[in-house]
Amino acid sequence: MEKFRPSHILVFGATGNVGKAIMDALVSANPAFPRLSIFTSKETAVSKHDLIDGWKSSSVSVLLGDIMNTQDIEAAYREVDTVISCLGRGALEAQKELIRLAEASPTVRWVIPSEFGTDPEHNELSAQEKPHQMKLAIRKFIRENTKQLNVTYLIVGPYFDMWIDQYKWKDGFGGIDVAEREAILTGDGDTKIGFTTLKDAGTAVVAALRHPEASLNAILRVASFVKTPNEVLSEYEKQLGVKFSVKNISLADQEAAERKMWEEENPWATVAALRRIWATGGAMYERFSNEDIGLGDGEMESLEKAVRKHINLYK
Ligand SMILES: NC(=O)c1ccc[n+]([C@@H]2O[C@H](COP(=O)([O-])OP(=O)(O)OC[C@H]3O[C@@H](n4cnc5c(N)ncnc54)[C@H](OP(=O)(O)O)[C@@H]3O)[C@@H](O)[C@H]2O)c1
Repeated sequence: MEKFRPSHILVFGATGNVGKAIMDALVSANPAFPRLSIFTSKETAVSKHDLIDGWKSSSVSVLLGDIMNTQDIEAAYREVDTVISCLGRGALEAQKELIRLAEASPTVRWVIPSEFGTDPEHNELSAQEKPHQMKLAIRKFIRENTKQLNVTYLIVGPYFDMWIDQYKWKDGFGGIDVAEREAILTGDGDTKIGFTTLKDAGTAVVAALRHPEASLNAILRVASFVKTPNEVLSEYEKQLGVKFSVKNISLADQEAAERKMWEEENPWATVAALRRIWATGGAMYERFSNEDIGLGDGEMESLEKAVRKHINLYK
């Protein structure tokens, strides 16, 4: 399998937050991948036709169907050798059937399931974390139900673009408000975090596909850059030439707020839990896999570039 090269890639969840970034990288990959297809619902094909028409003009095939329908999936897998799932949290469980059918398929050899976040098997606490349960269940399903299929888990930590949370930070989760020159940080802001920009999630997927010798049956942990929240804030202050007003939420207050959200079944509890996990070292690994898949210095976005892009949104 080390010589395996993807020839026909099928993407689920292509039009989602992460899927779009991954599609951008796949479509513009040079050299180009021989064949690219997406699987989406009829409803999405209508509501997001501008996005999808753009891909069609770049020779992407669009397959319509229902991810819960076995015949639709079997038909979509015909001639496909590589499957990338970017399905959202609400659809993660559907991946069990997608994987079962991929294992049974005569052509599918490689699946990248929808992880694209924090390693759910990072440490002894990870097994108890609510946001990790479905991703852990998918890993277990894969361990118990696949023999031929090659699987790669791509761990990227928090998306920098979302972590700074320009729209939602007033909900108290923390983040950087460029317009108001304010920052809310969890804890003392000195814990290192491996951040990835959304654009680089796409870069990392393409790099993984180009390096099957390192990525087949591996957990790849990548990051655009490793920085503390205080270092991130300093970069904003440096580029803007002003001091931000800073509020630090204590870990105890953050945990109390998160507990209340779980009790109230607030859907944002997942985000609160992930932010706590990241603020306490849950997105910092002993070793990152960037170089294993050819992502050496300068291949991914720097903190400086990511902050400049964010500030430019406000100009
Ligand atoms: N590291 C981070 O900071 C971070 C942040 C966000 C997400 N993530 C991870 O990235 C992966 C993708 O998340 P996302 O935010 O990009 O997903 P999303 O935008 O919420 O959804 C992606 C696609 O999934 C498909 N889908 C079908 N049924 C669905 C359902 N019931 N609920 C949700 N999606 C459904 C839809 O595709 P069609 O319209 O084509 O049917 C949708 O466009 C997940 O594993 C998530 O945990 C990580």
